[in-house]
Amino acid sequence: MKNVKLLKKFAAAAAAVMLAGICAVSASAASKTLVVYYSATGNTERVAKVIAQTAGADLFKVTPAQPYTQADLNWNDSSSRVVREHDDEKLRDVKLAETSVKDWDSYDVVFVGYPIWWGIAAWPLSSFVKACDFTGKTVIPFCTSLSSGLGESAALLEKAVRGGSWQKGRRFSSSVSDSEAAEWTRSVLK
Ligand SMILES: Cc1cc2nc3c(=O)[nH]c(=O)nc-3n(C[C@H](O)[C@H](O)[C@H](O)COP(=O)(O)O)c2cc1C
Repeated sequence: MKNVKLLKKFAAAAAAVMLAGICAVSASAASKTLVVYYSATGNTERVAKVIAQTAGADLFKVTPAQPYTQADLNWNDSSSRVVREHDDEKLRDVKLAETSVKDWDSYDVVFVGYPIWWGIAAWPLSSFVKACDFTGKTVIPFCTSLSSGLGESAALLEKAVRGGSWQKGRRFSSSVSDSEAAEWTRSVLK
């Protein structure tokens, strides 16, 4: 009889431990990840899609109301749109097609991706994130560039936005392989 009672106690304790385990797993499965990015010519977009696929994350593309044409992006033309915006900071606050992410509050981890323009984050991305409240979120910056490093780009974004626990960012070459981007994603989410 005593043994049966002991057995019941043990079974109840084991069930409680199992339940706690299940709860822990489901809590982490419930954590939601978003990849917010801007991409003018597709390089950052390709990386953003690999990150989203690897992380099981949602994607949000920042789109200027007036998208940049190839001529707009010509940094060798002193009168191109991007050169004018670079030269006059007031012009960099470009209008966006969409200014908020659906269910923003539900995301715990946000990857923030952008191309490097003159050593800093391309401003359509900065314009977007400045309006977001990152309080309570883990933020992981990434960028693509021809040769520049991450430099101050992520630190400047962190300074310009509200809240967030900003992690070390990562710069990728414009032609980074999908496998390198996926490997990095797995390493930061460990
Ligand atoms: C206006 C402009 C400025 C750029 N400035 C830099 C730079 O300072 N350093 C660099 O390595 N690449 C620079 N690039 C190259 C881009 O960062 C690179 O091609 C990037 O992968 C483009 O990403 P996207 O295809 O997502 O727009 C610049 C490109 C543009 C259009």
